[in-house]
Amino acid sequence: MLTTPPLSLYVHLPWCVRKCPYCDFNSHEQRGALPFAAYVDALIADLDADLPLAWGRTVQTVFFGGGTPSLFPPEAIDAFLQQASARLRFAPGLEITLETNPGTAEHGRFEGYRSAGVNRLSFGIQSFDDGCLQRLGRIHDSREAEAAVKLAQDAGFDNFNLDLMYALPEQSLAMAEHDVERAIALRPAHISHYQLTLEPNTVFAARPPAGIPDLDDSWDMQERCQALLADAGYAQYEVSAYARPGRQSAHNLNYWHFGDYLGIGAGAHGKLTLGSEQAILRRWKVKHPADYLAKAGTMAAIGGDERIDAERRPFDFMLNALRLNGGFAQAEFEARTGLAQSDIARELEQASANGWLEIDDGRVVPTELGRRFTNDVIGLFLR
Ligand SMILES: C[S@@+](CC[C@H](N)C(=O)[O-])C[C@H]1O[C@@H](n2cnc3c(N)ncnc32)[C@H](O)[C@@H]1O
Ligand code: SF4
Repeated sequence: MLTTPPLSLYVHLPWCVRKCPYCDFNSHEQRGALPFAAYVDALIADLDADLPLAWGRTVQTVFFGGGTPSLFPPEAIDAFLQQASARLRFAPGLEITLETNPGTAEHGRFEGYRSAGVNRLSFGIQSFDDGCLQRLGRIHDSREAEAAVKLAQDAGFDNFNLDLMYALPEQSLAMAEHDVERAIALRPAHISHYQLTLEPNTVFAARPPAGIPDLDDSWDMQERCQALLADAGYAQYEVSAYARPGRQSAHNLNYWHFGDYLGIGAGAHGKLTLGSEQAILRRWKVKHPADYLAKAGTMAAIGGDERIDAERRPFDFMLNALRLNGGFAQAEFEARTGLAQSDIARELEQASANGWLEIDDGRVVPTELGRRFTNDVIGLFLR
């Protein structure tokens, strides 16, 4: 029996100062002044159109992702949050995160975001090595990264995440470790540590940069950095996520626990459980900002609607839950997919025979080996 999980709200802000050569997110280079007010109006029209999918439900987290949300002035974020909270019930003290590019940090901005209600920031640092930052096509250097974090701390933000990437072109193990040490020195609540991937349809995929560390070297970086983070009190709780106690990202945890989310903004994806129909709906919006601005709130802004049928649900659930070091409770699988444990008994048996999962006391937990081969484990559930 499908039960209704916690609900999050994802808001996509699709512009960046410059497109990074490795990035396949729906982000578009800014050309001239951005239509902030019109985009906020479009977001609200979009939200209004999606509201019937979430009647009576309470929003537990909000996440402004991009793109570069920090290009938006605090007034625009404030206008959006005020209008959104008049339409949807916001849980008291809910986590509201905004992604920030250090190259866009301006004096006074962080105070503005704070008074608008934002209580968590996520900085796209990537590296503290200026050579690496240049090869990644970033608009900021290490000095600006540290200055941006200090500005946010001065504005009262103690709950912030730093995004780092490793296995970068011409990066040595020592350089990767040094990046993590400099991140830790800034005392963030949370660190995301992503292995650089060459995504299709990016500049790096078309012309791979020289000096990308091989698989073994990348694995060494991951292991060493994980140990450094653990020593400094940042426990890994997901493939790429590390947090001080109690500082995990509530928003991302809801995704990984196969929770629900409204997705508004250009190219945003949503996932909603429709209890009365015993269905799970995925809905996404048109990707191009101009197209979205013109159509938001109408049926034409919906890029697609898809119901996740029973066959597909185990794979979609595992794609999220098996990223978590703590795995999942079997009862959670049943509540979130509407399926019985017996529906995946064969796959679970195979995964534990391979030494990838341990099943104990109603929980399914990936082993160290399973965490090394996450994609293979998840692949078992594809039908
Ligand atoms: C949407 S970006 C958000 C932050 C902001 N746009 C910025 O880059 O400063 C989210 C994060 O995904 C990571 N990321 C993006 N492309 C990646 C790739 N090809 N491989 C690994 N990590 C990637 C980066 O660490 C980035 O900060
Ligand atoms: S700033 Fe972030 S979202 Fe924008 S292109 Fe670079 S990685 Fe992608």
